[in-house]
Amino acid sequence: MAPRPRRPLVSGNWKMNLDHFAAIANVQRLVFRLQPADYRALDVSVHPPFTDLRSVQVLLGNDEPPLALGAQHCHFADAGAFTGEVSPSMLAKLGIAYVICGHSERRQLFGETDEGVAARAAAILRNRMVPIVCVGETAEERDAGATDARLAEQVEGSLAGLSADEVRTLVIAYEPVWAIGTGRSATPADAEAGAARIRSVLAERWGSEVARAVRIQYGGSVTPSNAASLLAQPDVDGALVGGASLDADAFADIVAAARGVYEAS
Ligand code: PGA
Repeated sequence: MAPRPRRPLVSGNWKMNLDHFAAIANVQRLVFRLQPADYRALDVSVHPPFTDLRSVQVLLGNDEPPLALGAQHCHFADAGAFTGEVSPSMLAKLGIAYVICGHSERRQLFGETDEGVAARAAAILRNRMVPIVCVGETAEERDAGATDARLAEQVEGSLAGLSADEVRTLVIAYEPVWAIGTGRSATPADAEAGAARIRSVLAERWGSEVARAVRIQYGGSVTPSNAASLLAQPDVDGALVGGASLDADAFADIVAAARGVYEAS
């Protein structure tokens, strides 16, 4: 079997859960559970709330273990009169490697638009971090047969204005909205179809070589028991894990399942 063309990434999105004390305990347990073989096979990131980031950064030290620290959101300006916001340059200063942007909860609950997501993605890249840009259709869009059109619209809109060299470095998370936090994961075939669709949109707009380089995660009710079958799909390059990442043992089991898939391919 040919080696996988992209290095997988498994990310834990804690959402608005775990204060900085709980974060330290969770990351300590995760560091204990993750093995050198995991880090050899794939990249792993955790995305705690903003108030936890400094504590986790100090705990992790200088890249040892190589567990990457991520954020869940940021503003698109580096500084200014934006009460309550956090800037990408502040995150970069904390050693953040990845920033989730355009998560469906931000789109649905906080009015984020594709335009805003594109501005954030550009700001994250400008600050030498990697955006994890989330896209995905709602249940209504899926039922109406509009999944492909919706994914194309979101990918084009959320990456508008980025160059091919920028797009090649970022991560896209395919997160069908109906699968997030519902316990109803997509089937492996659904996950592959969504990821493949996203890759074909990337190829049309930025060229096939860029499309081949972009890592596409699947997200939505990923658990230790379904991770291997979802991640075995050829266009799926890892997972964005919500609920199950709050339990370090469950998250470590997902990473181990991912490693099993990638070691075998
Ligand atoms: P879930 O969340 O794993 O709890 O479904 C995924 C996400 O929102 O990124």
